[in-house]
Amino acid sequence: MKKTVKDYIRTIADFPHEGIMFRDVTTLFADARGFRMAIDQLLHPYAGEEIDKVVGLEARGFILGGAIAHQLSVGFVPIRKKGKLPGAVISQAYKLEYGEAVMEVHDDALMAGEKVLIVDDLLATGGTCEAGIKLCERLGAEVIGCAFVIDLPDLGGRKLLEKLGMNVHVLCEFEGA
Ligand code: PRP
Ligand code: MG
Repeated sequence: MKKTVKDYIRTIADFPHEGIMFRDVTTLFADARGFRMAIDQLLHPYAGEEIDKVVGLEARGFILGGAIAHQLSVGFVPIRKKGKLPGAVISQAYKLEYGEAVMEVHDDALMAGEKVLIVDDLLATGGTCEAGIKLCERLGAEVIGCAFVIDLPDLGGRKLLEKLGMNVHVLCEFEGA
């Protein structure tokens, strides 16, 4: 039977903590057919839509976002964890399971009115992406969609983003956390 994107994703038990089933996309990225299929499917709903920039969320969103930006012949903008970007940044805090983290973007990376597609490997609680959306919107950009390879529906991220009025596109789901 023909392999789907989900078939290329490896699950590693008890990483990074006991009880966590880690969904490992390195096996998807390493396979030429799987990687191309993922990029094509991530872009599929946006065919014909105007996209000015692709925004990738650190870290695996860079790999997907770079390939998607290249495919669309548009620029790529990284949203990184605190302290990694060299220029002037704006920052956005978001909740983690324990505590808080901060995402940043260069303050000149997006122009007001630009239409952006946000890309990441995985949607869990949605906190990371919500921070990314806020950063884009604070720069005046319009987020036209958020695309992920994996959704963990039990963690509610999709519902959160949809409540914010976002268009959410996922390629596959895994039950459980
Ligand atoms: C993982 C994943 C997403 C985020 C999703 O990244 O790659 O970016 O968590 O979680 P959320 O929807 O609950 O916010 P992680 O923070 O582990 O960092 P990394 O991508 O740099 O490894
Ligand atoms: Mg991540």
